[in-house]
Amino acid sequence: MDQIVVRGGNRLVGEVAVSGSKNSTLALMASALLADGVSVLDNAPRLRDVDAMLELLRALGAKADWNDESGHTLSIDASGVDNFEAPYDLVRKMRASFMVLGPLVARFGNARVSEPGGCAIGVRPVDQHLKGLEALGAKVQLQHGYVQATSSGLEGARLAFDLTTVNGTQNVLMAATLARGETVIENAAREPEVVELATMLSKMGAEIHAAGSDRIVVRGVKELRPVRHRVEGDRIEAGTLLAAAAITRGDVRVTGIDPSLLESTLEKLRELGAEVEVDADGARVRADGHQVGIRVVTAPFPGFPTDMQAQIMAVLTLVDGSSVVIENVFENRFMHVPELQRLGADISLSGRSAHVRGVEKLMGAPVMATDLRASAGLLLAGLVATGETRVSRVYHIDRGYENIEAKLRSLGADICREV
Ligand code: EPZ
Repeated sequence: MDQIVVRGGNRLVGEVAVSGSKNSTLALMASALLADGVSVLDNAPRLRDVDAMLELLRALGAKADWNDESGHTLSIDASGVDNFEAPYDLVRKMRASFMVLGPLVARFGNARVSEPGGCAIGVRPVDQHLKGLEALGAKVQLQHGYVQATSSGLEGARLAFDLTTVNGTQNVLMAATLARGETVIENAAREPEVVELATMLSKMGAEIHAAGSDRIVVRGVKELRPVRHRVEGDRIEAGTLLAAAAITRGDVRVTGIDPSLLESTLEKLRELGAEVEVDADGARVRADGHQVGIRVVTAPFPGFPTDMQAQIMAVLTLVDGSSVVIENVFENRFMHVPELQRLGADISLSGRSAHVRGVEKLMGAPVMATDLRASAGLLLAGLVATGETRVSRVYHIDRGYENIEAKLRSLGADICREV
């Protein structure tokens, strides 16, 4: 199994372009199912999760693949979709597959999608997805680990999520575009990935208002047309690379990203002592100064993203003073802590809170990736740990970061992948 080997001590300096957003791409791929024809996504990241979604779309009867235009362009022809079952072995591999449920039941009136089950970071139920689809008139049954949803035509409705759910909002939003009449989604997620999905759906002919607010209004239409869309830069990859600048006391500019999508991350980097500049196409972090402990609380957008929690914690292990990191979104998202402790970090956990006391230095050691973002946090720590840090199970990293070692090496990191 691949391992990534990092030798710590190099400051990261330079400029790097971020790839297209993984989480946006997965939702946009599912939305292609709503239209009879070929949708094209430019600037899509070459990731394991995107390949898993391609496999699922093909299993549903769509023609879906990378086309050779740029190596980052996806073509999805949903005109031939004739199978409405998303099997357990595919959904289990990549839980965002569950987002085909809304489009399938909206366009075809029929869907049988495996429940995604939990994952390393939490139980991650889908009750809110089902609540939303039932509000639109879908008949939902749970049978043998599958969600069976049928409808003779969805009806617009007013619904309120009990909690903020990104993929739940996206699933229901996609379904609502083809529901008769008006749908109001209260307590909607405000993440940029919801906004970008609404942008693509609107290009397809959907009538959506106030995406990005917690109250989205949709007027259903008869059908949607396929479109071409360029995926936004990945705000979490951008934040991860900027955190790498902070932890190595470097000077890095990331491009291909709208900095307003990661304002809360940039704010925390400023607060701990980094200098942050933003421009139309990116952001720059210079971190050669004194860094201090801060308080980080993860929350739905525009709060501090849970997907950046492991990465900021890695930075905080070496600042002057203590920090508190509170994980409010997922119930088990501190699995990077024992691994960071193996590198010499001084962290103590109490429920949803991690207390981080800055230490002088970290020492390289073999560590194991447990989930996508935990892996990123371990990589960041390895960039400054004295000696060699060997990160195993890097398939977790490849799910969400395209060629991360090449990007870090281009900034001066001593890093390589051992197959
Ligand atoms: C999306 O997951 C992202 N994944 C996650 O990124 C991200 O961490 C998460 O949003 C939060 O920002 C994709 O977009 C593919 P949620 P999602 O539904 O939508 C609970 C990464 O590293 N919940 O917003 O599945 C849930 O258990 C990944 O890129 C219910 O209780 O997350 C969690 O505690 C990891 N019932 C909270 O809500 C539901 O029906 C937020 O989850 C749905 C969710």
